[in-house]
Amino acid sequence: MRSRWQCPHKRSAWNPSSAAACCGAFPRSGRMKRSCSAVPLLLCAFLLGSTGYPFKPAVDVDVTPRTTILCSGLLGAQRFSSSALNYSTLLLEDETGILYVGARGALFALNTSNIADGSSRTIHWEAPADKKKDCHAKGRNNKTECFNHIRFLQRFNETHLYTCGTHAFHPLCAYIDTEQFRLSSGFEEGSEKCSYDPAKGYTGLLVDGEMYTATQYEFRSVPDIRRNTPQPMLKTEETPTRWLNEADFVGSAVLRESVDSSIGDDDKIYFFFTEKSDEESSSFSQSRVARVARVCRGDWGGQWTLQKKWTSFLKARLVCSIPDYDFHFNILRSVFVREAGAGGWQDSLFYAVFGSQWKNVKASAVCKFSIKDIQEAFSGAYMEKQESSPEWSRYSGVVPEPRPGSCITDAFRAKSFNMSRDLPDNVLEFIRRHPLMFQQVRPQEERPLLFKRGVDYTRIAVDRVTALDGRTYDVLFIGTDDGWLHKALEISSKIHIIEEMQLFEEPQPIENLVISQQQRSVFVGSQSGVLQLPLSACHRYTSCFDCIFTRDPYCSWDGTGCSETTLHTDRSNLTQDIHNGNSGCLNASGEGPLLPRKRTVLRGGDVLLQCELSSNLAVPAWTLNGSELASYGPGGYRIGTDGLLIVESRPEQSGNYSCYSVENGVRVLVRTYAVSVCAELLPQPWKPPTPATPPAPTSQPSELPSPLAPAPPRSEYQTFRSMEGLYITLITVLAGVCFVLTVVLLYLAFCVQNRRGRYSIQGSGRKNRGGGSLLELQTISSNCAGKPEGERPDGLLQIVPGEAQVSPNKDPPPPPPLPSSEFTNGISATLPSVLRKMNGNSYVLLRQSESKSTSPLYHSFTEELNKILEKRKQTPLGEKPDESSV
Ligand SMILES: *[C@@H]1O[C@H](CO)[C@@H](O)[C@H](O)[C@H]1NC(C)=O
Ligand SMILES: *[C@@H]1O[C@H](CO)[C@@H](O)[C@H](O)[C@H]1NC(C)=O
Ligand SMILES: *[C@@H]1O[C@H](CO)[C@@H](O)[C@H](O)[C@H]1NC(C)=O
Ligand SMILES: *[C@@H]1O[C@H](CO)[C@@H](O)[C@H](O)[C@H]1NC(C)=O
Ligand SMILES: *[C@@H]1O[C@H](CO)[C@@H](O)[C@H](O)[C@H]1NC(C)=O
Ligand SMILES: *[C@@H]1O[C@H](CO)[C@@H](O)[C@H](O)[C@H]1NC(C)=O
Ligand SMILES: *[C@@H]1O[C@H](CO)[C@@H](O)[C@H](O)[C@H]1NC(C)=O
Repeated sequence: MRSRWQCPHKRSAWNPSSAAACCGAFPRSGRMKRSCSAVPLLLCAFLLGSTGYPFKPAVDVDVTPRTTILCSGLLGAQRFSSSALNYSTLLLEDETGILYVGARGALFALNTSNIADGSSRTIHWEAPADKKKDCHAKGRNNKTECFNHIRFLQRFNETHLYTCGTHAFHPLCAYIDTEQFRLSSGFEEGSEKCSYDPAKGYTGLLVDGEMYTATQYEFRSVPDIRRNTPQPMLKTEETPTRWLNEADFVGSAVLRESVDSSIGDDDKIYFFFTEKSDEESSSFSQSRVARVARVCRGDWGGQWTLQKKWTSFLKARLVCSIPDYDFHFNILRSVFVREAGAGGWQDSLFYAVFGSQWKNVKASAVCKFSIKDIQEAFSGAYMEKQESSPEWSRYSGVVPEPRPGSCITDAFRAKSFNMSRDLPDNVLEFIRRHPLMFQQVRPQEERPLLFKRGVDYTRIAVDRVTALDGRTYDVLFIGTDDGWLHKALEISSKIHIIEEMQLFEEPQPIENLVISQQQRSVFVGSQSGVLQLPLSACHRYTSCFDCIFTRDPYCSWDGTGCSETTLHTDRSNLTQDIHNGNSGCLNASGEGPLLPRKRTVLRGGDVLLQCELSSNLAVPAWTLNGSELASYGPGGYRIGTDGLLIVESRPEQSGNYSCYSVENGVRVLVRTYAVSVCAELLPQPWKPPTPATPPAPTSQPSELPSPLAPAPPRSEYQTFRSMEGLYITLITVLAGVCFVLTVVLLYLAFCVQNRRGRYSIQGSGRKNRGGGSLLELQTISSNCAGKPEGERPDGLLQIVPGEAQVSPNKDPPPPPPLPSSEFTNGISATLPSVLRKMNGNSYVLLRQSESKSTSPLYHSFTEELNKILEKRKQTPLGEKPDESSV
């Protein structure tokens, strides 16, 4: 996935003409060319624009995470789990250093300084067997649903928490004595406060003892926003106008708008959800839309009209769409309220994660909304639904006074409307019929902050950091549905994904994220457990350049290492470059002199000069004897993301090869090779290894040790006979290796459907005419076993033994996460027509026959969108009927 979209992100590295060449530079460029010339200029411009040339980018197309970190490479992670499942409810109390966790059938109190330190306290609270049976008898799944899933867990008073669980579809609530960490005596009926179904969206808040909840209540799943306490309970209205339509709630927040209010305003509670839409829409019916709704804390319902109903309920649409495409992300997944800021609640920002409602598009977006824009929508025009029309349209009649849906302010009080029960009937009647605002809430900058295809984001949490430049930056932690966490930085309204981290070996959705300032950690709730991860692990970056390139605002280079900025009191000699990610390092700092590795090959053989770049954003550049190698020059070179391949080498290609990593406009020398291509072998003065340790040809190819290097010095009286024997052994071993590789290759050709790593070397260049040949250089271990790779031994067919220098700080980047399931037809058709001479390194070079390559792997996003837009004109996706009504 990444490799197909690398081009737009390699801004700095390629010259400006790369933008123009972009369309042709994708693998299997014949297809891309076709799509680019076929779609309107605008769409192509959209793609080009994202390279920063020549247009200003509208939206970054699929931002590539700079570093990919697999589970095994996580630094400083602590894990907590028990026999319970579904650790989805988290309550962090940073001051006391306790993280409360609500799981399935259990609650935990964990020490935030290390959740895995063994000091956890547990409350077992499981639904009794008869309730489970009852639940199962009503048609529910007794393996996943008929349990006590903790949904609500909040601080009630200084000594107690309040919690609610689904209790096998018989919700119950209880107080928790935090001193002893046990349930206080007596349960409370929970059916009015808690969802029955553990999978239904639920949100709840305790605000000074008042309890607000929103979910689909009861077995028949009626959505409602409620104030459960104090009595009387307030609800939303269902007749004649349903205020909520199959709403699926994702979050809520209280904003203390009464504090220092010049107009005597009230505190407000905001609710975020996705619901079925029946609004008038210009182009296509959007069956679901994202919404924000709000109520006032001081609401007491109406006297006669709207008795025990909200009088301050208003809702508005949240829009998150890609401009120019008219492509809307309609499914709200998670909202994070960033309340910090000197300006108080007026500075509040809502970071929202959206998904697409089209099942065949796996893509997510993050949009940022300001409270000002939300307020503006709530003080604008209303929508109405006329008897004659099934859809909502703008209300253009007279709005009664005082303004319907408002909180009680000083202006109301001046007219003797002291509380909601004083409101006149005509106002209440208006509220009843006009809950929806005409104006939509648009994201800041009118576009998503982040757009990512192939990923379903599930949760978001945002931290504010002050960087060395004195500015504050927002760092976004975004969880995916398959157990990854993206750490992204917002730099002047553009996004840079610093790292993508695989948090769980077993793919599972990230269900909750909270950030602890005290511990400088992010806590992650998932199905299998809770994970504590430091906000940064700077020492992962071992060179100054790596530290600067990463643009992590938590990290800076201190002259000897990359470390957390907060560790230093004297920051004068720290280096960091958030904005450009390229300045501050001396050209040689952090890097020792590089010893060239030697490669000798017979004329006509292929040589792979490995050069793994640790950054997904870097591009390789190679020089031969100091002069630049053209990427796809005639000399038979192939430059890939993992190395340089010399195909059918010729003696004049001997020389010193240097591999540079080019990132943010800076070239960093990564590795050098001294290559000699010789006409025949014999003149080479080489020292064979001792025959005592013949390598086993049966081991995994990727683990094969180099059979020839390093070679211990040989004694002088080595007989020719033993040399001969050694050659025979060697030939046998190599034949064995060839055989194993061939078997693996064949296996690979049949079993590998989806896996497609970055490890491909692209053939034929961008100027090919209609489906050029494609060379794929595949790493066997990353394809079949699917396990992370370690450092591979260098050159199996290294004929001149000598050096065995292993660069300590250049771990090969791990393979990217599995490509998304949208592309099911993988590379099975790429059986090699030519199996080239294998040159060790556990690599097999495949040459695909000249094919027209119609693999669905290579659909462009433009094509995909066009298809979707086409499709949904014809078949508006219907809503799934609600299955939960029993
Ligand atoms: C958490 O652990 C730390 C270190 O072991 C300890 O100092 C602290 O008191 C513990 N906190 C709680 C709330 O138990
Ligand atoms: C679920 O119900 C089935 C049928 O009654 C029963 O066989 C099974 O043991 C139950 N499973 C669990 C986990 O209770
Ligand atoms: C907190 O609430 C619980 C449950 O209502 C009650 O028993 C306890 O006394 C309260 N504690 C304080 C300090 O008010
Ligand atoms: C709880 O975890 C199990 C196993 O991981 C999963 O199948 C189930 O869907 C989860 N339930 C909820 C409500 O998340
Ligand atoms: C509202 O409150 C003011 C003063 O608090 C009082 O004078 C007035 O009578 C009240 N009006 C109503 C309708 O209760
Ligand atoms: C670093 O760069 C400067 C000028 O760009 C050059 O004079 C100097 O020799 C370089 N140092 C090293 C160690 O390459
Ligand atoms: C590179 O330099 C080496 C030694 O200095 C020389 O033998 C070789 O021919 C040169 N290669 C090229 C392509 O100039």
